[in-house]
Amino acid sequence: MLRRTLYGLLLAAPLLPLGVGCGNGEGCGDGPTSLSGGLIALNADGSLPSNPSCDSCPDQGEDGAQPTGCFAKESSSVGRAELLCSYVTCSNDGRRPEGLREALVSESGGAMGALFAHAAWLEAASVPAFLRLADELKAHGAPEALVKAARRSAGDEVRHTRAMQSLAERHGALLPDVDLPPFQARSLEEMLLENAVEGCVRETFGAFVAGWQSRTAQDPEVRDTLRAIARDEVRHAELAWAVDAWAHQERLTPRQRARLLQARRDALRVLGEEVEGHRPPEQLIREAGMPSREQALTLFQGLAGLVA
Ligand SMILES: [Fe+2]
Ligand SMILES: [Fe+2]
Repeated sequence: MLRRTLYGLLLAAPLLPLGVGCGNGEGCGDGPTSLSGGLIALNADGSLPSNPSCDSCPDQGEDGAQPTGCFAKESSSVGRAELLCSYVTCSNDGRRPEGLREALVSESGGAMGALFAHAAWLEAASVPAFLRLADELKAHGAPEALVKAARRSAGDEVRHTRAMQSLAERHGALLPDVDLPPFQARSLEEMLLENAVEGCVRETFGAFVAGWQSRTAQDPEVRDTLRAIARDEVRHAELAWAVDAWAHQERLTPRQRARLLQARRDALRVLGEEVEGHRPPEQLIREAGMPSREQALTLFQGLAGLVA
C-alpha cells in the first residue's frame, strides 16, 4: 500500500504544473535556511538550554514561513545564548534518535549546501537510531527479520550520509556534528511511540520527498543520489510499519494501542503544519527537486491517506 501510494504520487510529478507554487513566483521563499532569534537566557547552572522555545524566531519571507526548529548556541554576551532558528523544511527526513540536538548548518555553501549538509546530518543521526531499534527489537523478542532489517537500515544510513556529505561538500558546506546524549533503557511502548512518529510518519514522508527529488531535480548528480536513497527509504518506511504491525498484533493492550494511534495522528498534524509553512527557495525546487509548497502538500495528502 505504501509503495502504491508513493508510485501514484510520483507518477503525477511530471504532470503537476511547474507554475504551481513557485514557477509563478507565488508562495516561494528565497531567504536563508537559518536566522537568529536573538539572545535568550542560559540555564541557572550556565549551560545552554537544550530545548528552547522558538517563539522569538522571526517569520521568514512575505508569506511568513515558520521556523522548523531552533536551538541555543554560545554567544559572547554574558549569561546569554543565541537562539538559532532553522527554516530547512521537507528535507530528506531521517529517523531522529531521542535527544538529538538541532545542528547549526553553515550558510557557507548557499541554499544547496545547507540543504545537503542538513540532510547528511539527519542521515548520520539515523545510524544510531536504527542500531538502537535493532537492539530493542531483539530484546523484546521481535522476529529476526525485523532485527536484521533494522541493522541493514543502519548500514544504509551510513551510505546515505556519505552520499549527502559529498553533495554538501560539492557546494562548499560541511556536515555538522551529530550531538546526541547516551541512550537510556526504555519500555517497548516508548520505543513504539518513537517508531510511530519517526518511522511511520516522518521517515515515510522523507521517502516520498526523496522519491520526488529523484524524479524532478535538474541536477543529474542529485537525481542519481536521491534515486538510490529513495529506494532504501521506502524499505525503512516499510520496516517502521512492519514493527508497528508486529507490536499491534502481539504485544499491546488496547490502551497502549490507542496511545500509539494518537501519537501517529499528532505527528501527522505537526508535519502538516510544517508542510503548510514550507516555502523552499526556488533554486532548491529547480536544482535539488525539492517539492514546492503545493507539491509538498500533495505528497502530504498521500501520506495522510496512508496513515489514516
Ligand atoms: Fe537515509
Ligand atoms: Fe532512512
